[in-house]
Amino acid sequence: MNQCGVKELFRRAKEGCYALNAFNCADVWDMSAVTAAAQELRAPVMVAIHPENFTQLPLEIYAALGREMAERSDVPVILHLDHCQDVQVCKAAVDCGFPSVMLDASALPLEKNIAAVKEVAEYAHARGSIVEAEIGRIKGVGYEGGYEGDDYLARVADCVRLVEETGVDTLAVGIGTAHGYYEGEPHLSFERLQEIHRAISIPLVLHGGTGIAGEDVRRCIAEGICKVNVGTCIASAYMNGMKAELERFGENAFIIDLIGTVKEGIKKEVREWIRTCGGDKRA
Ligand code: 13P
Repeated sequence: MNQCGVKELFRRAKEGCYALNAFNCADVWDMSAVTAAAQELRAPVMVAIHPENFTQLPLEIYAALGREMAERSDVPVILHLDHCQDVQVCKAAVDCGFPSVMLDASALPLEKNIAAVKEVAEYAHARGSIVEAEIGRIKGVGYEGGYEGDDYLARVADCVRLVEETGVDTLAVGIGTAHGYYEGEPHLSFERLQEIHRAISIPLVLHGGTGIAGEDVRRCIAEGICKVNVGTCIASAYMNGMKAELERFGENAFIIDLIGTVKEGIKKEVREWIRTCGGDKRA
C-alpha cells in the first residue's frame, strides 16, 4: 500500500474516531497471528518491527515477509518500522518497501529532531511511504534516553514546530505512557493530549499500549489518538504460550506442533486490542 492508501486509513480512523493498532512482531509466527486476527475482525492493522530485530534477521527479510503477508491478506496490513533512531536505516526500510517508518529522534534537541525527521520525510514521501516522529518521551524500558521531572511530556509548541517544519505524517506524543508493563497505575495527561490535538491536525500516536485500561485508551482516541502501539503483551502471549506448550509436549516437540495453540494466544490479545480501539469492521 502506498502513502495515499495509508494516509487514507488514518483519515478514516480520525473521522470515525477509532484507532489503528500497530502490533510489535519479531518473526513469521507472530506476524501471521496478527494478520489472521485482523482478517477475522475485518480490521486494518499495522505490523511493527523494531530495528533491534535486524541484529538477528535482515531488514530485507522482514520487508519481504510484510509485503507477502499484505498481498495475501484481504484487509490492509501495513508494515511499519518502529522507533528507528537511525536516518539511514529508515531510508533503507523505505527502499525495501516499508510503507511506514518511524524516525524517533525524540532524545535529541528539538532542532536536531526536526532536521532528522525532515530528511526522512522528504526521502520517504518521494518514494511513497509515510513517516511518524516523536515529541516527548515514552517512559519505561526502551532506548529513548532519560528524562527529568515531567519533561517526558510533549510540549505543544515543539509539536507544532516539528509538524510545520517537517511535513511529517503522524506524531507520537509523550503523555505519560510507558513501554512494558506498568509499575503501579499509569498516569496519563489527557489535558496535554487535548492541547496538542487542538494545536495540530495530523493523526497522533499513543505508544506503550500494554497495561493501559480500555477506557483510558478510548479517551485518548476521543482526544485525537489515531494509532495505538502494542508490544509487550503480544511478546508475552507468544513466549508464555511457548513455555506452556513446551511443558505440555515435552522436549521432543517441534515448533510446528506447538505454534497453532501459541498463535491462538497471540490472536486473543490482538482481537481484544482491535475491539478496544474500535478498528473492527473497518476494512
Ligand atoms: P508496549 O510494549 O508497552 O505495549 O508498547 C509498545 C510500543 O509502544 C511500541 O512502539
